Amino acid sequence: MYVCVCNALTDRKIRSLSECSRGTVADAYRALGIKVQCGKCVPIVRSILDGPQPETPKTASIPAFAMPSQLGVGLVDA
Ligand code: FES
Repeated sequence: MYVCVCNALTDRKIRSLSECSRGTVADAYRALGIKVQCGKCVPIVRSILDGPQPETPKTASIPAFAMPSQLGVGLVDA
């Protein structure tokens, strides 16, 4: 969803910012290489920055080399 028409900025792009770029609206805009123009987007960008962050996908811990039985799979009989 576009949240800043002046800069064609979407909520997805704001949410994709790294943690260190998410301080203030000015920090976020600076990280994105854009500037506030009319300012109508500032409250919604602030609410996105203050809102819940997307969860980091959890990855299973799989060793570099694992036996099929360690992965919970069996060998196929021929
Ligand atoms: S809508 Fe974002 S600066 Fe105008």
